[in-house]
Amino acid sequence: MTIGTIVTVDDQAEVRRLLADVFKAKGSHVVGFDDGEEAIQWLGANEADLAVLDLDLGPNKRSGIEICRSLRARLPDLPIIILTGHGTIDDAVMAVKAGAVDFITKDPYLEDKLEISVEKVERIMQHALARRQLEQENRELRATNERLRKAAGRRWQIVGDSQSMRTVLTKIERVAPVPRPVLVLGPRGTGKELVARAIHTLSPRASEPYITINCAAVPESLLESELFGHEEGAFTGATKQKEGKFELADGGTLFLDEIGNMSLEFQAKILRVLEYQRFERVAGSESIQVNVRVIAATNADLKQAMADGTFRRDLYDRLAFEVIQLPPLAQRMEDVPILAAHFLAHFRQELSGIPVREISAAALDRFAAYDYPGNVRELKNIVERAVYMAQGSTLTAADVDGALPPEAQSPAESSGTSFADDARLPLDQRVDSFEAWLCRDALERTRYKQKEAAALLGITYDQFRQRYRKYGLGKD
Ligand SMILES: Nc1ncnc2c1ncn2[C@@H]1O[C@H](COP(=O)(O)OP(=O)(O)OP(=O)(O)O)[C@@H](O)[C@H]1O
Ligand SMILES: [Mg+2]
Repeated sequence: MTIGTIVTVDDQAEVRRLLADVFKAKGSHVVGFDDGEEAIQWLGANEADLAVLDLDLGPNKRSGIEICRSLRARLPDLPIIILTGHGTIDDAVMAVKAGAVDFITKDPYLEDKLEISVEKVERIMQHALARRQLEQENRELRATNERLRKAAGRRWQIVGDSQSMRTVLTKIERVAPVPRPVLVLGPRGTGKELVARAIHTLSPRASEPYITINCAAVPESLLESELFGHEEGAFTGATKQKEGKFELADGGTLFLDEIGNMSLEFQAKILRVLEYQRFERVAGSESIQVNVRVIAATNADLKQAMADGTFRRDLYDRLAFEVIQLPPLAQRMEDVPILAAHFLAHFRQELSGIPVREISAAALDRFAAYDYPGNVRELKNIVERAVYMAQGSTLTAADVDGALPPEAQSPAESSGTSFADDARLPLDQRVDSFEAWLCRDALERTRYKQKEAAALLGITYDQFRQRYRKYGLGKD
């Protein structure tokens, strides 16, 4: 990184010359002044990336330290280096206090020292630049999501703050305006359809049709007519002419979902349409020209399918203008709390009269303890079921447990304790044994924190201690 413009202030012409030589050799533009006030004035109207000030600027002149202070107040981002003839500790301390990033003594090693100091300034500038870029990216991500929310409402909003979801959002934003195919990959329920929707919504085609087809849901003999349409009498049952999805999507976007299982022959047909945007209806002779942006998705491992010879490499290359890979939810668990809050808000909006307003920390812990093989879709279902069953205004751990699949909620599996009831025993013994089991389970869930276990069970700490002693619940 080269520093663009450097302002130097020294009353000695030979020092100014030396500074100019050193900095110009590094590719910088140098503007020299013998007077601090002039430099301040110049900097008020021009931009510079670094100022180098001499400490002693001559009799009856403000010192470099004072100039430094003035500049600091006006241009807080401008790095300043102070030069001095003597280099006492006091001067150094004053310079740093005035806001200089470095302090250099004018001695025979001045050139070397300048070199080192400039490198330091370059590093500082690089950091500042990286920080500004990051802030800019964050602003853009927030703006993307805001635009999605405004354009399409909460239903199509993509929620997630993990690094991997940020990358996904950045790619969506970047590729949306480009009229080329996009391939969306990821396990089931990770949000592939949502991403396709977002790309369309953020593209200049947003007001044109968005057509989807699930290629795996239609037998291949029908898929051709579904995609390309057919003429009257094309096959038994084709009583009238029908437009295919490619025609319906003309001007807009066609989402080809689950493209992983098409025959090689059919893949070749798709490839041809992608290349030439031209096709014929089944049993038709007219060549139809369209302008369709294709987004394809699959949860199949296409790399493997290509290696096995079941997916055409040329089709992959065509579709993979941009590839957006969605990671399983288990690999971005930090997104679970905001996703849960999002689904709660969405559910409340959809259905009036839901008492639940917020999610307790304990409930979030329960959400976090499961690994979601069905990914975001499964989390959404669990949140909705838990909210639907809950009575209070806060979602509790027990509410979540009730909605988790049995293997995730069963303490017998998750903690190794089990509860075996014995119908031959008298009722009070059966109740005691159940209570002891509940307490032990609460302890294990809270990693033996008795206060938390009591809270989990909804009893006071004293009540819990009573049972703890009664059932001998020490860890042993
Ligand atoms: N990042 C996310 N933010 C908000 N909702 C999401 C997110 N990811 C997924 N969802 C929701 O989860 C559900 C499943 O998402 P979607 O249908 O897009 O997944 P998919 O990858 O296409 O799944 P499949 O492979 O089964 O077709 C939808 O209700 C969707 O709105
Ligand atoms: Mg899908």
